[in-house]
Amino acid sequence: MNTAANDIPLRILIVDDEENILRSLRRLLANEEFEVLTAISGEEGLKILSENTDTALIISDQRMPGLSGVDFLEQARKLAPDASRIILTGYADVNAAIDGINKGGAYRYVTKPWKDEELTGIVHEALLRFVLIKDNQRLTRIVRNRNEELKEWNSRLKALVEEQTRGIRRQNEELKRLNESLENNLRDTITAFSGLIELRDAQGGSHSKNVAELSVRAARRAGLSEDEIQTISTASLLHDIGKIGIPDILLAKDMDEMESEEQAVYAQHPVRGQAAIDPIGALRDAGVLIRHHHEWFNGRGFPDGLAGKKIPLGARIISIADFVDRTVRGFRGDKAIEFALKKVKEYAGERFDGRLCPLMESPARELYRGFAREAEFVEMQLCPKDLRAGMVVSRDVRTGTGLLILSVGVKLDEKNIKSLRRSYQIDPSRSGIFVRVRR
Ligand SMILES: [Fe+2]
Ligand SMILES: [Fe+2]
Repeated sequence: MNTAANDIPLRILIVDDEENILRSLRRLLANEEFEVLTAISGEEGLKILSENTDTALIISDQRMPGLSGVDFLEQARKLAPDASRIILTGYADVNAAIDGINKGGAYRYVTKPWKDEELTGIVHEALLRFVLIKDNQRLTRIVRNRNEELKEWNSRLKALVEEQTRGIRRQNEELKRLNESLENNLRDTITAFSGLIELRDAQGGSHSKNVAELSVRAARRAGLSEDEIQTISTASLLHDIGKIGIPDILLAKDMDEMESEEQAVYAQHPVRGQAAIDPIGALRDAGVLIRHHHEWFNGRGFPDGLAGKKIPLGARIISIADFVDRTVRGFRGDKAIEFALKKVKEYAGERFDGRLCPLMESPARELYRGFAREAEFVEMQLCPKDLRAGMVVSRDVRTGTGLLILSVGVKLDEKNIKSLRRSYQIDPSRSGIFVRVRR
């Protein structure tokens, strides 16, 4: 029998004051693969034990001069606590046996003379007990070490997860920031495009902006999602971007006044508009609405002649808003809004989706609230000599070579009229001065 941890033979210490007993016990155990140490007294036994604390079994006689077996075992227990201990007693020495067990922590007592077979069996059991204790200690150590390692790994893992979570959070923040900046860039681009369209607009600026205002408000009343509303807003701002390539002369006319070839060119602008923004992936949904903003609900519009719900909802809304803004501008009176809304009602079910028309009423009234007052004014192009104090400049005034003299919004007085006339004498401009005057 060996210790489980290694192949070192188990060590047995026998203590007896009688040499012949030591000899016979040594002989008895000689066949086994044990390392047998002997001591002639308890004192010597302790000395040997202090140098061999991994001893597996101690067999001690009780009755010895000097240290008794019980006393020896009691002290031996401190030196080799895991060793199994057997005490040898005479038949009559029951008290010593009990002491040996209680004080000396003996595992068994064996009475002299012993039966060899019985003693060998007891020795084996005692050694097995020692081996089991050692194995148990070894396994406990392994489990404890594994637990420590696990704890260590756990805390490392936790730190790693926390670090990664922090990293992911940082990346998310960064992505969000980039996204916002991209969205802002896109919005800026849309505004810039929209500004370009307004430059070409024969009827004056802010048509796209007004169409967007009306469409967004109506879409909100129709209960559309924020994403859909955003797309409608973008499409409204850019709905006439396809007009950029169309000759000025055409843009100055109503569609009814155009020759049929002119109408054909004009009718291309929704498709050209969609194609123009198609390279920008984020604007493709808006591109579809742009394509269909001149479809009629009864299928008689252009470019595809779609009818009813085949026309995208956003395009049906933009179509009404576009008409309302054009009509209000064209009518130019304080009844312009009512006139436009009346026309919308007339067209309901033919040109426009009848269920959407009522949604446009209050947005239009809100948007053009100041328009009636605005309609009291008219823009005129005057020569420098016709300028009067109190008129308000409605477009930037520049000299012939392009030098800015007065900005839009400036109210004229005698002084700036005089300096303007002088500038026009030195560096005449071919265009007149645009001012707003009361009707
Ligand atoms: Fe259009
Ligand atoms: Fe338009």
